Amino acid sequence: KTLAAAARAGDGIMFGSAIQSALIDPDSDGDETYEQRAAAEFSLIAPENDLIWEVTEPTEPTREGGEWVHNYAWNRAEEVVDFADRNGQTIIGHHLVWHSSVPSWWPRMPGPDGKPIPNPEAYTPQVVREFLQDRVEDTVNRFEGRIGYWSVVNEVFAENGSWRPSIWQRAYPNPVPDSYGYIADSFRWAHAADANAKLYINEYGVEGNTAKARALYDLVKRLRNDNVPIHGVGFQTHRKLTDGLTGFADMLRRFADLGVEVYITEMDVRIHDTATSGVELLQQAEVYGRAVRACLDVAACKFINLWGFTDAHSWIGTVFHIGWGRATVLTNTLAAKPAYNRIAAELAGW
Ligand code: G3I
Repeated sequence: KTLAAAARAGDGIMFGSAIQSALIDPDSDGDETYEQRAAAEFSLIAPENDLIWEVTEPTEPTREGGEWVHNYAWNRAEEVVDFADRNGQTIIGHHLVWHSSVPSWWPRMPGPDGKPIPNPEAYTPQVVREFLQDRVEDTVNRFEGRIGYWSVVNEVFAENGSWRPSIWQRAYPNPVPDSYGYIADSFRWAHAADANAKLYINEYGVEGNTAKARALYDLVKRLRNDNVPIHGVGFQTHRKLTDGLTGFADMLRRFADLGVEVYITEMDVRIHDTATSGVELLQQAEVYGRAVRACLDVAACKFINLWGFTDAHSWIGTVFHIGWGRATVLTNTLAAKPAYNRIAAELAGW
């Protein structure tokens, strides 16, 4: 009995997880139990970090005969895609365009808080557009027919619903730097590269009725009105216990009414490292359960994806939220936590 089987037995949605290429690498010291579990448990896989721009294009393109020559590194992504193919799993590609994965060769400048940020003026607007187009087209093209769903643009809004500053805005003045143009173009280029892939916009903090959720809604409506090929909206669903998830199904339905599919794309629920038993684990199960229920309640909700499936390998506790590293559904030794059982129960009544 697996989560994928439970999902199939219930409403027939797909159920997946992000996985890390280093742990399924047959040539290095991969982790066999991790690999076997990832293969068996899920019908959907997301390469956690292997498709982001800084990973796939580690060196600056060069110019030859009026064209950019890119030095791509597809090896990590290929490993995960091959893995999923071998196991008959659908793949979701995270993310084509994301402010947080600009390669290190792009020149930096001091940001508002003094920390380095990519300099939007490092290249001319035309070059910025060419880099963006190549990034989107070449990546989708490379995996045409193999990656079924793409997170085309990720996290384009700040919390208050304004555009998040990025290197692409200056290439799309309206008349001041603006995000709409690069977002619409990215969807069009992705669609031209693989007409069968489903394309979605991805965001966090939009599960409830927040300013960001309202801005996202207006954007999706505008894209649909302009016939931009957008097929879905991804709700990352990184949550903590105190958030609750009130109104999530309503939010999913509201977006679905615009004619798009909706997905849970990166779910985890952080609790304290010390919470190895007892009440927090049950509360965590409750939040997972509510999210699954919300998806099942909305016909347009087609998959649920976890952002890591074991506490042994989760971005929470290492990259961020130190001290909160028990956010996933399996323990360090891959034993089911209450959240796992609760999800299976919601999906299939097991
Ligand atoms: O692989 C290197 C390793 O060689 C090195 O020793 C180590 C030291 O810092 O870093 C390792 O890379 C880290 C990588 O995760 C793999 O663990 C990066 O520093 C770290 O920045 C990276 O974090 C990822 C983060 O996105 C930023 O790219 C997380 O794993 C990943 O889970 C997270 O995922 C994002 C989604 O894409 C978008 N939504 C939010 C979500 C969480 O931030």
